[in-house]
Amino acid sequence: MRMVDLIEKKRDNQELSTAEIQYIIERYTTGEIPDYQMSALLMAIYFNGMTEQERADLTMAMMKSGDTIDLSAIEGIKVDKHSTGGVGDTTTLVLGPLVAAVGVPVAKMSGRGLGHTGGTIDKLEAVKGFSVEIPKEEFIDLVNKNKISVIGQTGNLTPADKKLYALRDVTATVDSIPLIASSIMSKKLAAGADAIVLDVKTGAGAFMKTPEDAEKLAQAMVNIGNNVGRNTMAIISDMSQPLGFAIGNALEVKEAIDTLKGEGPEDLAELCLTLGSYMVLLAKKAATLEEARSALKEIIANGKALETFKLFLESQGGDASLVDDPSKLPQATYKIELPAKKDGYVKELIADEIGTAAMKLGAGRETKESVIDLAVGLVLNKKIGDTVKAGESLLTIHSNTEQVDDVKEMLYNSIIISDEHVEAPTLIHSHISK
Ligand code: URA
Ligand code: CA
Repeated sequence: MRMVDLIEKKRDNQELSTAEIQYIIERYTTGEIPDYQMSALLMAIYFNGMTEQERADLTMAMMKSGDTIDLSAIEGIKVDKHSTGGVGDTTTLVLGPLVAAVGVPVAKMSGRGLGHTGGTIDKLEAVKGFSVEIPKEEFIDLVNKNKISVIGQTGNLTPADKKLYALRDVTATVDSIPLIASSIMSKKLAAGADAIVLDVKTGAGAFMKTPEDAEKLAQAMVNIGNNVGRNTMAIISDMSQPLGFAIGNALEVKEAIDTLKGEGPEDLAELCLTLGSYMVLLAKKAATLEEARSALKEIIANGKALETFKLFLESQGGDASLVDDPSKLPQATYKIELPAKKDGYVKELIADEIGTAAMKLGAGRETKESVIDLAVGLVLNKKIGDTVKAGESLLTIHSNTEQVDDVKEMLYNSIIISDEHVEAPTLIHSHISK
């Protein structure tokens, strides 16, 4: 086999075989195939796309390019959730204990965040004493015992994807549905998921700006998952504005606690019930979505979701007493209000810009080396569609410095107030299955 012939084949819009795709990924990972040949192939894929078979083959080849996590010692069907990323997306913190409380095993290896706000691991580190570095055997035991454990990612997962993603970034080939879909799915499969629920975001704060593009990506991932033997479903959800009210690590832990108590923001609660119902269904802990949803509502109402969260924190050395007293979470020194400049209706809360403002305060990482301030962030007081009076607080800035003029200016530019009535956006755009 010669790489030049395979490039020519794809250039001429012919289908690459399983063996050919495996050959490419194996040799690209070792460095035997150089970046310039891979770049040419990526561009051919960008223009000609990939068949369903090629997408499944690429996903499997990338999954096999490095370590894979073996979760077979955990009883039950391991359902993983993946979100394509948003601003103030507190869902994982809520969903973990929520579905674990109805018996779905949650064995999650999470990463740290880059950009907007921290990742799940960063958020959990806002809990005093909580350890994300526990041995693999203990992790498995905890999931079997409590149905939930979350640890930091170790090992060398999908090195082919890391190399390819970096190459796509500098060859204008990131925006290709087959390449994005196989990239995301290869990582989920390497992390040991038996079944996958995908939350594909759409809107200003999302990778996919329109619901149509988000649906194409979701359908591509759902097809890959099912074609490689993993039950996979997806929803398209709104990320035109941040999810919930809180953006920032400790602030989101507090928001997760509120939501597990049944006192959280409406959109966050609804999204968690929707995604959670799919997880419960795929784990075969309920026969229908309706049954799954009522089980989840019951578990919130009877306090078991919150109890499971406490147990989860305690089991990994965390101070669970902060669940009853969230003032024990890291607190910022200054709480600064952002008053509205005029009366009207909130028309836009541009999610990615608000996320960037939170990052500037220190809630997220500008580079991999940045150190996060767990206490800082933003808490929205208004969401799209709300009425506002001049002088009323649009949001509260939680900061460890008094000098926040540039952040305020960024925020004023990303919050649009209209004179006319505005409808709240639809939260769940659609559901995608095979
Ligand atoms: N996220 C990924 O993990 N991969 C892509 O290709 C794009 C977004
Ligand atoms: Ca939030």
